[in-house]
Order: sequence, then C-alpha cells, then structure tokens
Amino acid sequence: MLTITREKAQKGLKGIIEIPSDKSISHRAAMFLALTNEEAVISNFSRGADCHSTLNIVEKLGCEVGFIAPNTVKIKSHFPFKGYENALDCGNSGTTMRLMSGILSGQNFESTLFGDNSLMNRPMKRVIEPLELMGAKISHTDYKAPLVISGTKLHAIDYNSRLASAQVKSCILLAGLNAEGTTTFTEPYKSRNHSELMLDYLGANIKVNSNSVSIEQSKLFARDITIPGDISSAAFFMAAACIVPDSDIVIKNVGLNPTRAGIIEVLQKMGANIEILAQNTICGEEVGDIRVKHSELQGIEISGEIIPRLIDELPVIAVLATQAEGTTTVKDAQDLRNKESDRIKCLVNELQKIGANIKETEDGFIIKGKSKLNGGASVECYHDHRLAMSLYVAGLVSENSVKINDFQWVDISFPEFLDLMQEFRA
Ligand code: S3P
Repeated sequence: MLTITREKAQKGLKGIIEIPSDKSISHRAAMFLALTNEEAVISNFSRGADCHSTLNIVEKLGCEVGFIAPNTVKIKSHFPFKGYENALDCGNSGTTMRLMSGILSGQNFESTLFGDNSLMNRPMKRVIEPLELMGAKISHTDYKAPLVISGTKLHAIDYNSRLASAQVKSCILLAGLNAEGTTTFTEPYKSRNHSELMLDYLGANIKVNSNSVSIEQSKLFARDITIPGDISSAAFFMAAACIVPDSDIVIKNVGLNPTRAGIIEVLQKMGANIEILAQNTICGEEVGDIRVKHSELQGIEISGEIIPRLIDELPVIAVLATQAEGTTTVKDAQDLRNKESDRIKCLVNELQKIGANIKETEDGFIIKGKSKLNGGASVECYHDHRLAMSLYVAGLVSENSVKINDFQWVDISFPEFLDLMQEFRA
C-alpha cells in the first residue's frame, strides 16, 4: 500500500512532457496481431498493468511475445489458437475481459476468463447478451465473471445497443470477424473507434456508417503498429496546468482521435487557454502536441453525445469544475457507476472530504465553483487509478495537504504518472 501526500503547488507547471502510450489502443494492437498468424512489432506499447494482462493472455494462447526494447514488443502469432492450460487472468481490465470474450466465443476450445475483485463485480451482461444472440455459449453467475466460454461456430447479427460502449462494440466486431455473414453494431452515440481504425489498418472487411459498423468474416494481416500517447493520461496534466496559477506546458504526442478528444472541446468551452500544435496521423490515429496554460474557467453543462468521448476524463473534469466560476452539471453519465469503482459516488465522497461543493445525481454530478479546497484530509481511491490521479490534481490546489491512500493503483494505466508530475517540481 502506497500513501502519498500532495502539498499545494508552490509554483506553476512549466515545461514539455511526453505522455506515455494509449491504453485502449495498446490492448487492441496486442489482441488483433494475435489473430493474424504472422509477426509484427508494436512501438510505444503501454507499461500499464492492464495492457500487460492482455499481453499475458495473448502469450498463453500460443503467441510468442518478446520485448525488443523497453516499450517495443514483437508478437509472433500462431493462429488459429490451439487452446491453453489454465484460466485466463484479466486482472483489473474490463477491456481485456470484454474484448477477449468476443474473440474466444468463436474458437474451438473452452476458456475461462477471470479477474480481480473489482472486475469480477463488473457487469458482463452487455457482452454476454449479444454474444449469445450470435450463438455463443457462456456460463456465468448473474452475468458476472468468471466467464466460462465454450467456443463454437458463430453467426452474424444486426445489433442495436442501448449503450454507447467501445468495449461492447469491439467485442461484437471481434466475434463478427469470425462469424458467418455480416455483423452490424449500432450505438446511440459514437464511442471510441480505435477498433474500427485498427481492423481496417490490418485488412478486415469493415464499413462505418455514422453510428453503425459492419464487419464480414475476414482474415487479418500483421503490420507494425505505433501507439500514440494517451489523451486520458494527458487529461491530468491539462487539468493541472489549467488550475495551477502561472502554468504553461506542452504535452507532446497525444492521441487526438475525435472520438476520444471530448475533453479538449470541454476545456475550450470552459474558456481554457489550450492550443493544438503540430498534428499528424499514425496508423490511422490522429496525434498532436497540446499547449495548456493557466486559465480562468467557466462552469458548463456536459451531457449527451459527448459523454462517451470523455467518459474516463469525467473524474478530473470534476476537479477542474471546482475551480471554475459558476455551476458545472454532468448528465447522462450513469455508466460511470460501472467503472473500476462507482465513479459518481466515490468521487463525490472524496471531493467533499477536501471541501468541494459537489452533489451526486443519478447520472452524474453538479459542482458549484469556484471554491477554495481546504484539503487537510485523507482520501481513498477505491482501487481506481483514475480517482487516485484526479485526487492528486485536486491536491495541487488544496490549501492543506491531501493524503491519498493506495496510490499504487495508478500503475493500472499510468505507472509514469508521479515521475512526470515530479519533473515539474511544483
Ligand atoms: C474502453 C472503453 C470505455 C472506457 C474504458 C476503455 C476501451 O469503456 O471507459 O476505460 O478501451 O474500449 P466502455 O466501452 O465500457 O464505455
């Protein structure tokens, strides 16, 4: 257990940093290359524990996985998989469990997916239901893991999802890759489209039409993949620079895929001093540098189609909102209750402990700003990496120190977080 104490920042954050690899794209690179029966290299692979859960599973399924440089991994696939000996451990990673269930449902062997306490309590009905419509055979207790998947021949479906979820969409597309016919997935709003871009990059027969994606049974071909920096990790630095007086930072190599970049739109609407510098495209993904300076922020309403495009950034947006003039209201974000923790309840609890004026609602929260955060409290992160980092950012502007318990959970997505923050000596 790692408890850290964050004192109020003594000066602004100034300088240039490079944000490490995107978690969502790293998962997909490892899984999709595993389906090729060829060999390729992934550059800038995530060091986060979640992506290493995916790599371990891919290795257990018979791929040769080797690091040829610290963040560069070579994957030699032997596909179709021949089965494996033990149950497959997804750790804390919902993305691993949900995407792998789509892959494993169509194999010709039985597999079991399990994870840590948090993951074993997360809802899996969202993937089990559509997979069963495709003919999948999955045993579970009350739609929770462990999931015992008896691989079988799948058939295509045309599925209308109630949720805008990239994990559900990707699960069904991966099942569809191996199912007879054309599988179509439609969602109410567009969620992150990394799977669509990478499946296309690797040669799948995939078509996107507004909020619908169709895929045909296809073979994937290996190509080297370079992963951009994670905008969800960059969000903590953008928020910190906005609220700590006298800050001016450049964050390099950040993924700017519009289906992920809702935080930038929100910051612009709140009046932040934010500028996109050099921009280009790598392996189908937009990437760029972002300059953020200390800003006078205004409260806004955040709801509707933008929610899936910033779902993981809502905890740190709540921290930002405590330092914005007026009211910020977040609506339509009820799925935040199904993340690594109940991110609405836990966040509201902990921010109240340090003096924020924040109220829980069924599908989000309401924050009244601008408020002085007193700090002077010990806060919990509920085994949730994004809560830990959001509370750290709150500590930067709290009058008295904030003690954050179990800070080691940041390793799930961003083991470099503290080192990068400490580079600013703020
Ligand atoms: C993810 C999708 C999102 C996000 C999660 C990663 C992905 O979840 O919250 O951290 O990599 O596809 P949902 O698909 O459940 O919204």
